Amino acid sequence: TYGPVVALVFGYLLGSIPFGLLITRAAGLGDVREIGSGNIGATNVLRTGNKGLAAATLVLDALKGTVAVLIASHYAPELGLWAGLGAFLGHLFPVWLGFKGGKGVATYLGVLIGLAWQVALIFAVVWLAVAFLFRFSSLAALMAAVVVPIALYFLSTPQIAGLFVVMSIIVFIKHRANISRLLAGTEGKIGAKG
Ligand code: G3P
Repeated sequence: TYGPVVALVFGYLLGSIPFGLLITRAAGLGDVREIGSGNIGATNVLRTGNKGLAAATLVLDALKGTVAVLIASHYAPELGLWAGLGAFLGHLFPVWLGFKGGKGVATYLGVLIGLAWQVALIFAVVWLAVAFLFRFSSLAALMAAVVVPIALYFLSTPQIAGLFVVMSIIVFIKHRANISRLLAGTEGKIGAKG
């Protein structure tokens, strides 16, 4: 009966590791929260100009979601969903950073890889297509966050689709400032230094 709570907390603790912040700090680049958008994610790490560190941030922030899902679902399939939600919330609201975390896109993808990898491929195609066409990481993430719940509705379980409806809504809320900048024409393009 405590399973979901344990899975949620376990996922949260994994998800709350702020890899972007730790990696840039370890590389002697200072605090990534003081450049560009101020976010701790891979997109903003890329604004330091270091592609390798940005790629490492993307992989590790995604992996914490995937690992949380896979370990928890080893005990019971539905626990994977709770651990995935926990990892996503941990990335967004890490206790270590005064609950001021990232926007959750990489971790969202990592959880998706763990729960429905076929739809993670759809995420990747949509993200890459929008990013290639418009060069905005935020717009690419927002479009992927619209497509994923729809794809899950057809290709996965109602529980997993429902989880991603919730997570997509949270992704949109976390991108409020990006949406304002996109509408105002002031959003930074991918790779532009900040
Ligand atoms: O994944 C985060 C991305 O969608 C936006 O990042 O730094 O441009 O706010 P950023």
